[in-house]
Amino acid sequence: MTDALKACVIGYPIHHSRSPLIHNHWIKGLGVNGYYGIESIAPDDLPSFLAALKTGQSDYRGGNATLPHKERLLELADEADDAALQVGAANTFWVKNGRLHVTNTDVHGFLANLDAQTPAPPWDQTMQDKKKAVVLGAGGAARAIVSGLIQRGFDQIHIANRTLARAEALCQGLTRRAGLSDTVLSPIGWAQAQMAQEGASLLVNTTSLGMSGQPPLRHSLEGLPLEATVTDIVYTPLKTDLLKQAEARGHRAIDGLGMLLHQAVPGFETWFGIKPEVTKTLRALVEQDMQL
Ligand code: ATR
Repeated sequence: MTDALKACVIGYPIHHSRSPLIHNHWIKGLGVNGYYGIESIAPDDLPSFLAALKTGQSDYRGGNATLPHKERLLELADEADDAALQVGAANTFWVKNGRLHVTNTDVHGFLANLDAQTPAPPWDQTMQDKKKAVVLGAGGAARAIVSGLIQRGFDQIHIANRTLARAEALCQGLTRRAGLSDTVLSPIGWAQAQMAQEGASLLVNTTSLGMSGQPPLRHSLEGLPLEATVTDIVYTPLKTDLLKQAEARGHRAIDGLGMLLHQAVPGFETWFGIKPEVTKTLRALVEQDMQL
């Protein structure tokens, strides 16, 4: 393994990451001489961990970052792409010519999952004339998802959050960073979400509500046009109550596991030089792991 290409996921705590399962499945399947590890890195140790990568004192050529490192990784980067800058956080890093590069692949993961699961008509072209979306939540995941919707030309995006000030801050930050007109992003209170979904073609839950062990997500889809796609970033359980409600009403309902799988693709390609595929076999492997 001495010449093997190595990458890893860093976090604190890190026990529950499924990234090693995903990347090592691809490494094996594609016959790459590589290894994807897992490193518990405390916040204070992040600068020295990254410095060792840059100076070649570490075996790793890059990796993924999860909580609590995503914002700090962006601050410590020498080169950040538009996705990371717009979201204000990075989850993927690599070293090239001694410089630390970062990106945010959650944006790609969100879009690629919906693209893959809604071939016709595409999820972002179901309405003739308008592109309106309602996003529930205003945390880090919401920033990546709203950024993706901006990329796809959504021109009316309502962000509903329990803490309105957080939705306002998200809208102000993204409007400035993406150079949008003030009318594209609208922060709204949780109670306004149902009214806002009239005429929308997409509803996304980006909160942790509905996840096993978390409080339920109480949201009625009444009033959402039936052509609209409904998706949830929660994937434990795979079929959340929101997705069950969406299916019962006749919407296209897309679960959140695909986002996790698709967000891993760009990192793997960067570190190991070959683009992997999100297959049914990979999905089944991760689903099986979730049941353990
Ligand atoms: P992430 O970075 O994964 O998106 P986060 O920043 O903690 O995680 O954001 C979690 C989201 O879930 C937020 O929108 C949060 O709402 P607040 O900003 O009001 O905290 C939302 N959320 C979490 N628990 C909630 C609850 N019990 N009721 C309503 N919203 C909740």
